[in-house]
Amino acid sequence: MPDFDVIVIGAGPGGYVAAIRAAQLGLAVACVEKEPTLGGTCVRVGCIPSKVLLESSERFVMARDQLAEHGVVVGDVSLDLTTMMRRKDAVVKSNTDGVAYLFKKHGIERFTGVGELQGRGHVVVRHEDGDTELHAEHVILATGSSVAPLAGVEVDGERVITSDHAIALSEVPGHLVVIGAGAIGLELGCVWARLGAKVTVLEYLDRVLPTMDAEISREAKKVFTRQGLDIRTGAAVRGTKRTKQGVSVSVEGASPVKADVALLATGRVPNVEGLGLVAAGVATDDQGFVQVDAHLRTSLEGVYAIGDLIRGPMLAHRAEDDGVAVVERIATGAGHVDYDLVPNVVYTEPEIASVGKTEEQLKEAGIAYRKGTFPYQANGRARAMAATEGKVKLLADKESDRLLGAHIIGARAGDLISELTAAMAFHATSEDVARVSHPHPTLAEVVREAALAVDGRALHI
Ligand code: NAI
Repeated sequence: MPDFDVIVIGAGPGGYVAAIRAAQLGLAVACVEKEPTLGGTCVRVGCIPSKVLLESSERFVMARDQLAEHGVVVGDVSLDLTTMMRRKDAVVKSNTDGVAYLFKKHGIERFTGVGELQGRGHVVVRHEDGDTELHAEHVILATGSSVAPLAGVEVDGERVITSDHAIALSEVPGHLVVIGAGAIGLELGCVWARLGAKVTVLEYLDRVLPTMDAEISREAKKVFTRQGLDIRTGAAVRGTKRTKQGVSVSVEGASPVKADVALLATGRVPNVEGLGLVAAGVATDDQGFVQVDAHLRTSLEGVYAIGDLIRGPMLAHRAEDDGVAVVERIATGAGHVDYDLVPNVVYTEPEIASVGKTEEQLKEAGIAYRKGTFPYQANGRARAMAATEGKVKLLADKESDRLLGAHIIGARAGDLISELTAAMAFHATSEDVARVSHPHPTLAEVVREAALAVDGRALHI
């Protein structure tokens, strides 16, 4: 007889949310986590601590450079990095404690150790005091991802670091080289640039945030360059070498870049090692992702995989949605994620957010579309906030007017994208969004104006 209905391996946003939802649905749940605290990469070393540092460093810049224009006079502004880091640790702790509280509240049994799949419905937890055998009808693999290695780059945690270290530096590096202009590189590059580091970003492709809409990427590069980042696109990093003073980063066809610290941010790879997949008969693809069908079932019956472990955007909210869908399917027979409508947000200042198709994807698919854009510059609230940088760009089907893509660079883009995601989930047209009353004065009016602009009817431009 199985001990549990569901065993979840991994307590990141995918795994812990799956465990909570399963418990809500009346299933007996065990969750295996190798770290002493719950929450996974997102809560412990990813989304949450990076957002704390983004918030804190933004306030530092505001106090130092921006309050004067509001007539707020502050004395000498200086950085107390120890306090900033302590606050970050406290926020992380409140979140990991919060997950532990939810586990208790829902009666989820927690096992600390490394979970290994032994076959259908069978997991062994390896921990200091030996092994614990667990059995369940269903097993959900949710072990997440880790920083992808890059040939020639040896991470030592000191001169060559990853995001794990970049959220915990004890001093501001004089010169930080960021390898890769994805979300991690830009968010953490911005944090340290704000706190005083010279930051050089080396990006292999011809634009930053290469998966985003190209127009937004171009705008982002301009904005971050204005903020002082030295962004070099078309720069393929081929290796790093420790020097006496720091690190030398070699770039194909260009002179090496010398710096104090190099941050490796060229992507992440699924955590499949030690999970026992091969022996258990769970198939992975050529890049190590666990293969799943449309219902997130692996090749082994009763075993599912979610989040960063499978193909698709490596995003916490997508992993959560995967987890909920799997357990709802187990418990009720129905559960679904619309992978075409997973929003993506980069939490720089301004924020960058997108959902649905980019203009390039529509062109490539031969879909005729109309486009509406509206600048923050023309919005009263944005002016009041001194946040006039950026725009909202909407793409709608030329015939039906149905919204196909939404792209925002500007203040609070990460919050504004939800209106558009919801609109698209309900198959809204640009006309629908344009006809909805939007409170004045808010940044949300930029969204409405962009919807009006699809039909050439924006009011404030
Ligand atoms: P990424 O895949 O988003 O970006 C990596 C960048 O590195 C790409 O632009 C790539 O072209 C570049 N690159 C690759 N090899 C290179 C080389 N040899 N030299 C120079 N550049 C090179 O990966 P990132 O930023 O590490 O993030 C990992 C995952 O975590 C992504 O899936 C990302 O979406 C997710 N994430 C999301 C966040 C968010 O939503 N705010 C925050 C942090 C991570």
